[in-house]
Amino acid sequence: MSKQFDVIVIGGGPGGYIAAIRAAQLGFNVACIDEWKNAKGGPALGGTCTNIGCIPSKALLQSSEHYEHASHHFSDHGIEVKGLSLNLPKMLGRKDTVVKQNNDGIVYLFKKNKVTFFHGRGSFAAAKDGSYDIKVAGAAEETIAGKHVIVATGSNARALPGAPFDEETILSNDGALRIGAVPKKLGLIGAGVIGLEMGSVWRRLGAEVTVLEGLPTFLGAVDQQIAKEAHKAFVKQGLKIELGATVGEIKSGKKGVSVAYVDAKGQAMTLEVDKLIVSIGRVANTIGLAPEVVGLKLDERGAILVDGECKTNLPNVWAVGDVVRGPMLAHKAEEEGVAVAERIAGQHSHVNFNTIPWVIYTNPEIAWVGQTEEQLKAAGRAYKAGTFPFMANGRARALGDTTGMVKMLADAVTDEILGVHIVGPMASELIAECVVAMEFRASSEDIARICHAHPSLSEATKEAALAVDKRTLNF
Ligand code: FAD
Ligand code: NAI
Repeated sequence: MSKQFDVIVIGGGPGGYIAAIRAAQLGFNVACIDEWKNAKGGPALGGTCTNIGCIPSKALLQSSEHYEHASHHFSDHGIEVKGLSLNLPKMLGRKDTVVKQNNDGIVYLFKKNKVTFFHGRGSFAAAKDGSYDIKVAGAAEETIAGKHVIVATGSNARALPGAPFDEETILSNDGALRIGAVPKKLGLIGAGVIGLEMGSVWRRLGAEVTVLEGLPTFLGAVDQQIAKEAHKAFVKQGLKIELGATVGEIKSGKKGVSVAYVDAKGQAMTLEVDKLIVSIGRVANTIGLAPEVVGLKLDERGAILVDGECKTNLPNVWAVGDVVRGPMLAHKAEEEGVAVAERIAGQHSHVNFNTIPWVIYTNPEIAWVGQTEEQLKAAGRAYKAGTFPFMANGRARALGDTTGMVKMLADAVTDEILGVHIVGPMASELIAECVVAMEFRASSEDIARICHAHPSLSEATKEAALAVDKRTLNF
C-alpha cells in the first residue's frame, strides 16, 4: 500500500515549498517532491529562485556593486583604495554559500512543519478512488497517493532556435551565474530583467557588454518616463544596448560566438563575443510530469491551464507559480501557493494581481506597482501624476546616489493611487509602502499626510504624493 497524503506538492521552488508549509500549518499531512540536485547529487530545495535565479543573481549583484564602488566611487568619499583586485572564484564561492544557506533553510522549515520531502521526479501515475497516484523517481522509485495535488514545476529558460544552451559559450541564466573568468566581450540577447541584471554584474566586473533587444522600445512594460531615466543611467555606465535588433544566425566555436543581426536601421551587423547570454523569456516546465496520464490540460503555450483560483481542469489538482499564467515572479508563486493551501482548507483566499510589485535589481534599481502612465492613457482613465527626483532628497545626497525619481499616479477625481514607479536607490524597498497603500486603496493625500522619517529615501515617496497635488515642499 502506497503512502497516503492529504496534499502532495510537486516542485519545491517558492510556489511549491511555501504551499507545502502553509498546507502543513493548516493541519494537513503533506508531501513535497523536488528533483533539483546540488553539485554532489543531493537535494537542493528552493527551485529556480534559490538555485539559479533570485538568490544567486542578487548575491552577485551585491558583490559586483561593492567592487564597482571600490573601483570608482569610494574615492568620492575620501577613501583611497590601492591594489584593488578581483577574486572571482571567491565571489562565486560566496554566492554558492548564500544559495546553500537558503537550500538548508528550507530543509529546516520542512522539518519544523512536518512536511515529508521526497527527492526525485514526480509524475502523475493514475487517478483512482478520489485520489492521485504520484510516481517518485529518485535514488529509488516509489508511488505515493494524495487527495490533493499542487503542481509547482516552474519554468525553464527559452533558447533561441538553432542556438541551444551549452552553458559554456551560449549561456542561460544558469551558466550566466557561474562564468569562471570575466569575459572580455559579453553579448546578451534580450534587454529584459535577466539581461539587465546579468549584464550589469559582468559589466561591473570588467566585461565589455552589448545587449541586443528585439523590440524598438526599452523596457516596454515599464512606465516610459522611468524606463528612459534608467536607459540613460545604463548607457552612462557603459552598457551598450541596441534596440530593434533582429537576431539571425548564431555561430559558436572555440574562440567564442558570432551573432548576425540586422540593426534598427536595417543594416546587416555581426556581434563577436567571448560568451553569449540568451535571456529572451522563460517557458513553463511540465517535463516529466506526465500530465497526459490523468488528462491534465495545458494551454497553447504549454503552461498548465488554471482558473483565477489556480484550479486545473481536474478535481483537487491545482497549479501555481511559473508553470501557470501570470508574471513569473517568486512572490507571485508564493502568494498563489498560500492561497491554494488555504482554499484546500475551505478558506476564501485571494491574490491581487493589481498589486504585485516588480523589481529590477540593477543600479539604479527599478520598481513599480500598479498601472503605468501609458496604460492609464490607453484605458482613457483621467489621472494626476506627481514626480520627485532623488536629486532633491537629503538621504540620497548623503548616499551619493541621486539618480532617478519616484512617480505617483492617482485618479483625477477620487485621488486613489493607481500606480507608483520608482527608479533610484533602494527602489526595491521603497515600493513596499506603495504596495501597502494600494492594497488599502489609499489616496495620494494619505501618503502625503503620513510622517516619514528624515532623512530617508522614503521622503521622496511622500514628496511624489505631494507633487500629485502640486505642492512639493523640497523641490
Ligand atoms: P521554480 O522556482 O522553477 O521551482 C520549480 C521546482 O520544481 C524546481 O526545483 C524543479 O526542479 C522542480 N520540478 C520540476 N518538475 C518536477 C517534477 N516533475 N518532479 C519534481 N520536481 C520537479 N523572481 C523574483 O520575484 N525576484 C527576483 O529577483 C528574481 N530573479 C530571478 C533571476 C533569474 C536569473 C531567474 C531565472 C528568475 C528570477 N526570478 C525572480 C523568477 C523566479 O525565480 C521564479 O518566478 C520562481 O522561481 C518561480 O517559482 P516556482 O515555484 O513556480 O518554480
Ligand atoms: P523578459 O521577458 O524579462 O525579457 C526578455 C526580453 O527579450 C524582452 O525585452 C524581449 O523583447 C526580448 N526578446 C525576446 N525574444 C527576442 C529575440 N529573439 N531577439 C532579441 N530580443 C528578444 O525575460 P528574461 O529577462 O529572460 O527573464 C525571464 C523572467 O524571469 C522575467 O520575465 C521575470 O519574470 C523573471 N525574472 C525576474 C527578476 C526580478 O524579479 N528581478 C529577475 C530575473 C528574471
